[in-house]
Formats: sequence, C-alpha cells, structure tokens
Amino acid sequence: MPSMVASPPYLHPMAIHRSYAASHKGLRNILGQFSLLAGRTDYGSPADVQRLKALGDEMFMLLTHHLHTENDHLLALLEQRVPGALQHNLRDHEELEVIQQDVADRLARLDGTQTALEGHAFHLAFTAFQGRYLGHIHHEEVVTEELLLKHFTEAELIANSERIVQQVEFPVLLASRQGASKNLERMARAAIVRPDEALRRADTGTMYPTEEQRSMGE
Ligand SMILES: [Fe+2]
Repeated sequence: MPSMVASPPYLHPMAIHRSYAASHKGLRNILGQFSLLAGRTDYGSPADVQRLKALGDEMFMLLTHHLHTENDHLLALLEQRVPGALQHNLRDHEELEVIQQDVADRLARLDGTQTALEGHAFHLAFTAFQGRYLGHIHHEEVVTEELLLKHFTEAELIANSERIVQQVEFPVLLASRQGASKNLERMARAAIVRPDEALRRADTGTMYPTEEQRSMGE
C-alpha cells in the first residue's frame, strides 16, 4: 500500500524508505571506480600513481565518514529499541577499519617506482578489502535495514535520514565535490573534455579520465 508519508525528493514517491540505500550506492560506486583504476594503473608512473592516490583519499574519507555516521546516527538509534542489535555491525566496523587502514597505508607508500608485480599485490589487497566491505554492506541492507523498518515508523526513518543528509553528509559531499573540482580543472586545462561534459561526468560519478583519455597524453 502506498505510504501517506511524503518522501524526500531523491526517492521515488512509491518507495519504502531505506536508510542505507543511497549512501551504500555511492560507496559501491567509488569502490568500483577505485578498483577499476587500480587495475589500470601503471605503478611505475608517478602521474598514474598520483591519480590513484587522489581517488583513494576521497574514497577512504567517504568510507570513514560513513562508518562513523552509521555508528552514531543509525545503529545508536536502533540500539534504543532493539538492545544488542548493533553488536554484529560494530564488530564488523572494527575489523573493517583495521583492514582499511592497512590498504590506505599501502597506498600511501606507493610513489610511482613500483614494479608491475608490486602494483598487482596492492590491487589484490584492495580487492580483498572491497569484497569484505561489499559483503558487510549487503548484510546491513538485508538484515539491519529490516530491523529499522520493523521498529521505527517510516516517518521517523525519513526524518532521521533528512537530518543526516542536512547536518552530516552535505558538508562531506561538498568537501568531496571540491576535490573533484580540482580534477575537473585539470581535465579542462588539458582540453580533453568540454566544461559541460566535465560537469556531467562529475554529476554521474565518472569524472576520472578513461584509459583512452590518458593515452591521449594527459
Ligand atoms: Fe556498516
């Protein structure tokens, strides 16, 4: 039955509100972009490695921010009505933070003088983390999300998501977008894409140059 509660504008009006869906889609997007770029990177090229590091910094910032937002604004909420419900996710978060830090440290050590084999080892380490992370957020969407829907009204969940977007996520998205702007400037200077195309790419999360563009001598 259609809900009588007004949905936020970014959701389809017939959708049941899902607290995790939007942010997890964004995280899957950037994890996928990073995996693709890590697989294409020439680890003996300082310029290539610098590009990978820029995307990695943005990705790790978003992942860290999401984890703390979830702990403080979703799991803490759920714990009020379902004591003990947050234990599984908190444990996962602690383990993921350790693996994420290890991958971030490995990325920081790259400087464009690595062999293809060393680059491949980094890519493997990242994809092991990515696989673990994707399993974790899948669990959240099929288990934790259902608990939220069972123990809170849709109006409560929508109000909570709106508060998170306005007070917590928007400043971070802005910071992320500012990082993307530097990338856009660089592409525009190289006359690889027109400004309107560059903006479209930023909005669709495809602002990073393709293999073809890189081979054009960026
Ligand atoms: Fe999580």
